Amino acid sequence: MSCAGLARQTRQIRGGGLLHSWISANRGAIYIPSYGKPLCSSAENAAVGDVDIMHLEQRVLVTGGAGFLGSHLCEQLLERGCQVLCVDNFYTGTRRNIEHLLDHKHFELLRHDVTYPLHVEVDEIYNLACPASPIHYQKDPVQTTKTSVLGALNMLGLSRRLSAKVFQASTSEVYGDPAVHPQQEEYWGNVNPIGVRSCYDEGKRCAETLFFDYHRQHGLEIKVARIFNTYGPRTHPNDGRVVSSFIVQALLGKDITIFGDGTQTRSFCFVEDLVQGFIKLMNTGRDVTGPVNLGNPGEFTIGELADKVIDLTGSRSKVVYRPLPADDPKQRRPDIAKAQRLLEWEPKVELEEGLKRTIPYFDSLLSEDGVKRAIGI
Ligand SMILES: NC(=O)c1ccc[n+]([C@@H]2O[C@H](COP(=O)([O-])OP(=O)(O)OC[C@H]3O[C@@H](n4cnc5c(N)ncnc54)[C@H](O)[C@@H]3O)[C@@H](O)[C@H]2O)c1
Repeated sequence: MSCAGLARQTRQIRGGGLLHSWISANRGAIYIPSYGKPLCSSAENAAVGDVDIMHLEQRVLVTGGAGFLGSHLCEQLLERGCQVLCVDNFYTGTRRNIEHLLDHKHFELLRHDVTYPLHVEVDEIYNLACPASPIHYQKDPVQTTKTSVLGALNMLGLSRRLSAKVFQASTSEVYGDPAVHPQQEEYWGNVNPIGVRSCYDEGKRCAETLFFDYHRQHGLEIKVARIFNTYGPRTHPNDGRVVSSFIVQALLGKDITIFGDGTQTRSFCFVEDLVQGFIKLMNTGRDVTGPVNLGNPGEFTIGELADKVIDLTGSRSKVVYRPLPADDPKQRRPDIAKAQRLLEWEPKVELEEGLKRTIPYFDSLLSEDGVKRAIGI
């Protein structure tokens, strides 16, 4: 079939929803990576418009795919029938998180550092690569800023070359120690530019700037999510994040350490809810760029969280108090009205249920000798 004919037929497909039968009827003619050659040149493809005549599945790149959130995202994308390319340098992520996906026919793993350019062919990019917990991102703060800023530049460059949609995992930390509560997307934040958390906070802020400049300057289709505290299976057992730390301490019968007096509040989103929000945001129309807050607006004091964990693990741990670290926000709660309106999304998993689904993961992890050694017990 000529390319003009193909373009005509494709227009028909867009109007009439005949894609499936068209693909079956033309299977020999379309390009499937290892089976054949592209039918049209890229100039001719432009006439075909936004229907992908080359691939049967959506090809999705997930940077930071071997991390906590990334591994759940890879799973949910595979469940939806996508081909997933997971890219990670294993700085904080681990093979263990994605081991169960390695044999999946639509899953591919690439060890790569996003501070270096990457040339791959995909339709969508989720940029999650970046250490997320304070002890991890403060270990090598210069590398943290590089990962946020150079990683964003490299993914935006790739996305520009491919005309691919690109999603940025930003963070509630862009609001710093917020002077308004709860935080709406319009709030510009209260961030210390030279503190110990700045490598992360300012790195993520700069990444957002780059996303919006690529959007304005090059017309890139961007999706920016500001993620609030999330927890669930596969959080790193030793990263100092409050939910995992409390669970590990409780399961080991050690003192539960609260920094500050325990009255500071946090909101906790279960990972499954959050990742559904990512995918909904990615699937919005061109006009939706974000930033969109994604998190659970239910607010708990750190003291309440400690009590719940002790209760659900049946632990005998005692609570002990230590001084609050520098620049630690006192209150953090997302206003998710925008996500509710634009994505029809809101979290469904209550804290207690999420904890019940998380505790067994850590229980099993802590039974492994290697893990015990690695976290110093
Ligand atoms: N978990 C949360 O509560 C939370 C909250 C706000 C924002 N986020 C953002 O979501 C993303 C994922 O967070 P997470 O909780 O899964 O953290 P994580 O540390 O478990 O995952 C980050 C992943 O990125 C990888 N990585 C780090 N630097 C890299 C580099 N230079 N090149 C390639 N890979 C690299 C790590 O090895 C790891 O697998 C991060 O961008 C983080 O800032 C997470």
